[in-house]
Amino acid sequence: MEISRHTYLERRKSLMAQLPEKSVVVLRTGELATRNNDCDYEFRPHSSFFYLTGFPEPSAYAFISGEGELTLLTLPKDPEKEQWEGFRHGRQGAIETFGAAQAAVIEELAPTAFDLLNGAQQVVYLFSDAELQQQIAQWRDALAAKARAGAIAPTHMQDLEPLVADMRLIKDAEEIAIMERAAQISVAAHQQAMSSVHPGMYEYQLEAELNYVFMKSGARQPAYNNIVASGANACVLHYIKNDEEIAEGDLVLIDAGAELGCYAADITRTFPANGKFSEPQAALYQLVLDAYHAGLKELQVGTAYEAFHNAAVEVLTTGLVNLGLLQGEPKALIENKAYRDFYMHNTGHWLGLDVHDCGTYKVAGESRPLQAGMVLTIEPGLYVSKDNLSVDKKWRGIGIRIEDDVLIREQGPYVLTHGLAKEITEIEALMSKG
Ligand code: GLY
Ligand code: MN
Ligand code: MN
Repeated sequence: MEISRHTYLERRKSLMAQLPEKSVVVLRTGELATRNNDCDYEFRPHSSFFYLTGFPEPSAYAFISGEGELTLLTLPKDPEKEQWEGFRHGRQGAIETFGAAQAAVIEELAPTAFDLLNGAQQVVYLFSDAELQQQIAQWRDALAAKARAGAIAPTHMQDLEPLVADMRLIKDAEEIAIMERAAQISVAAHQQAMSSVHPGMYEYQLEAELNYVFMKSGARQPAYNNIVASGANACVLHYIKNDEEIAEGDLVLIDAGAELGCYAADITRTFPANGKFSEPQAALYQLVLDAYHAGLKELQVGTAYEAFHNAAVEVLTTGLVNLGLLQGEPKALIENKAYRDFYMHNTGHWLGLDVHDCGTYKVAGESRPLQAGMVLTIEPGLYVSKDNLSVDKKWRGIGIRIEDDVLIREQGPYVLTHGLAKEITEIEALMSKG
């Protein structure tokens, strides 16, 4: 399951059509990162580089010019290196497999850049890439120094981020198919975890169940560090230590999603280690679930992005008052953000090649209206610190989040992570079979 070569070319064409003539886009994918001594982390291409090229190897540069013509600079073919480290596509592979109009080995970066930037009016690149920014400045200065020999240095620089972010924000049918598969692999992993948990297990042992299903299903790695948080650990939003023993009576919060073809899934479920919610756990869980359902209704074409968060906050705040965790009028508690003691994150984010995908949430100062093809998470939660002495002790140390991935469609929201238990009765039924 992958994006077709034709789609990469169409993306480059569409990008260039938005730029003035004589623009050159420059991207780099980044280098292998050392883990320790001579061991590297597995390489993962830069998301926007990958979006426009599909090229998976480290150390590569891409120049896009004209109507989308790609020049790829790659690591050279090297039989000895390939004997130790594996296959490289090299120059020929860049042309034949990745549709590059031209290709060169990375040692030829500077002369290739001079050639391509000579006579270009503007260079378009990610301003966030400081190293590339420095290289481009050097290439430009070197061209300017050769002006008397006829070289023409580019005069304008433009940030690629807003252009590529807006493109990546709307997913096409190929992307949606991969994302639904990543979502469904993740659903299976969460089902496996819910069916195998028991008090006395260590959090990492439950994490192993997730990784097993991801890998067995073809997703070689998670899209982000797995969060397997029992008891009060669930109140740490990005808890990744995953090294404690799961106790009888704990809730377990798992936030984990597979990465497939570089696309992310992002799911959270919270369930009782012993298979049965206690009364306070069930009360808070039902509140988060009600907030989820209220938020989901707002995920409609044309609705402002902020609406689903606001709907969730209203349900959560009113519920916290009804349960006695907050005192006062919900309207005032929302205005002064009193709910943030228990709910300190937003109700979702864009999802795609990055788990927190690119794309602004406001356009011209206004909350962005939702469009068909956007994918986002919905993830309301409640977190009661174990040290919160202002609430009855039965609530303390409970952390709950429910998270699904949703595609915005004309005919209403479509939950890509469908089929995973989230109602209390569904979770308890699934766990009793485990
Ligand atoms: N897994 C990170 C998040 O839910 O935003
Ligand atoms: Mn998320
Ligand atoms: Mn998540």
